[in-house]
Amino acid sequence: MNDSMEYTTLGRTGLKASVAGLGCGGPSRLGLRNGAQGEKSAVALVREALDLGINFLDTAESYATEAVVGKAIAGVARDRVIISTKKALPSPHHSEIEKEVKKGLEQSLKLLGTDYIDVYHLHGVEPKDYDFARERLMPVMRRLREQGKIRFIGVTEGFVQDPSHQMLQQGLREDLWDVVMVGFNLLNPSARGSVFPMTQEKRVGVLNMFAVRRALSQPNRLRGILTDLMHKGVIPENAVNPEDLIDFILKESDATTLPEVAYRFCRHERGVDLVLTGTGNPEHLRANIESILKPPLPKSVLKKLEEVFGDLNHLTGN
Ligand SMILES: NC(=O)c1ccc[n+]([C@@H]2O[C@H](COP(=O)([O-])OP(=O)(O)OC[C@H]3O[C@@H](n4cnc5c(N)ncnc54)[C@H](OP(=O)(O)O)[C@@H]3O)[C@@H](O)[C@H]2O)c1
Repeated sequence: MNDSMEYTTLGRTGLKASVAGLGCGGPSRLGLRNGAQGEKSAVALVREALDLGINFLDTAESYATEAVVGKAIAGVARDRVIISTKKALPSPHHSEIEKEVKKGLEQSLKLLGTDYIDVYHLHGVEPKDYDFARERLMPVMRRLREQGKIRFIGVTEGFVQDPSHQMLQQGLREDLWDVVMVGFNLLNPSARGSVFPMTQEKRVGVLNMFAVRRALSQPNRLRGILTDLMHKGVIPENAVNPEDLIDFILKESDATTLPEVAYRFCRHERGVDLVLTGTGNPEHLRANIESILKPPLPKSVLKKLEEVFGDLNHLTGN
């Protein structure tokens, strides 16, 4: 624990997690994507996140960052960090599904240098995969939990393919998942109506992904998206001028950057437990943590954002 960080309870897991979690995947993969930076910098970035009070690290079999996380946490008491990692879905036609899931988990444990995972997710489950995940993979996950190799079972949505949360709306009808990872941001706040009421009712832990992607880190990209929405008639032409909207949000909210606005928007949403932030840039890491710890956006800004984007459920922020 660190005095400058805030901690929260991750739903029914009871885990005390920092309100900012480090995303070790996403477009930057700790700076390792496209070999932008080396492993040493990535390990240093994870260590800096820990020094800043982050105790929740999200990685996945498919990100190729588990080994980096393993190196960064070597020497840290195991109960000081919460490790979240994920299993990519095997083909439903795989001849040995249970063996494949176990093999994936063993490999993750080895790379992470630990003998248990705190939250083990099925990764990017699309609506078409849900029945398979529930009927064939869930029993395997439960056996792994009984063996003590994983503590809690999670599922992450494929937000790009499923921006209106069809999979989670189906999956949350039953009481199967301890934690879910949900795409939620100011351009697509639809989880507020379709997902969060169910997670709150069942005390499912909620990890927020997609708080900031290209559209919310690059003002030009956001201008382009707004113009496109107007041309398509999704937003009335006279409702907003892209330039004015961005100016209004920044001036009215005392925020200095769009990512700050975007992180504050997510962090104070009722129903979001922790916001994931991924980067390869230590300055961005520090700024993003600071943003996540700032107060909510003013009501006037939230109202404007609701007017413009409140009904949208198709954008991802890319
Ligand atoms: N289906 C799934 O399971 C799934 C899907 C997506 C993500 N995830 C998880 O969720 C985490 C969060 O993912 P995400 O989709 O929200 O993306 P993210 O990993 O948080 O990436 C954010 C992107 O925005 C840029 N950025 C961050 N801070 C910035 C700043 N202050 N100024 C300008 N640019 C900034 C980063 O580039 P720089 O490197 O330049 O900072 C990065 O490319 C991932 O890391 C991953 O762990 C899971």
